[in-house]
Amino acid sequence: MAGYLKAHGVRNRKVLVADSFEGLPKPEPQYPIDATSKFHEQDFLRVSLPEVQGNFKKYDLLDDSVVFLKGWFKDTLPTAPTEKIAIARLDGDMYSSTMDALNNLYPKVSVGGYVIIDDYSIGYCAAAVHDFRAAHNITDPLVIIDHTGVY
Ligand SMILES: C[S@@+](CC[C@H](N)C(=O)[O-])C[C@H]1O[C@@H](n2cnc3c(N)ncnc32)[C@H](O)[C@@H]1O
Repeated sequence: MAGYLKAHGVRNRKVLVADSFEGLPKPEPQYPIDATSKFHEQDFLRVSLPEVQGNFKKYDLLDDSVVFLKGWFKDTLPTAPTEKIAIARLDGDMYSSTMDALNNLYPKVSVGGYVIIDDYSIGYCAAAVHDFRAAHNITDPLVIIDHTGVY
């Protein structure tokens, strides 16, 4: 996304990158659907902030248009420094993570904006999407992208 904006000379938008940079959270009792999740044990899902920043730097994309929000979504997203979102791309795998992101970001998505859900093939994530849509009477189409993603 940062590369696209730079290539097209778009300077009036920011890319917010929210992640714990410490992997996924343990299942919380508040979200029983996540009870069987073992994602928090997966080391390959723990990628540090310096490593991610280093990857942006490799492509000369580490500037103040990219804002890193380090921490759990439930702590960082309620105060995410943006009023309007064009594209929210969610990739949190779990029910809790997807729900925290939808609750905090969906209300800021502009009319005509998009929400991309990378992990719809994961049952925890799909359940959060369905529950959120039902709770808010959202009837916009859920469009399949590939074997796992929808928007
Ligand atoms: C499947 S990985 C995807 C990482 C990245 N989007 C990519 O495609 O390389 C899921 C990421 O979400 C982060 N994550 C999941 N749930 C989170 C939460 N509740 N709070 C903060 N980060 C979370 C993990 O740390 C992990 O980096």
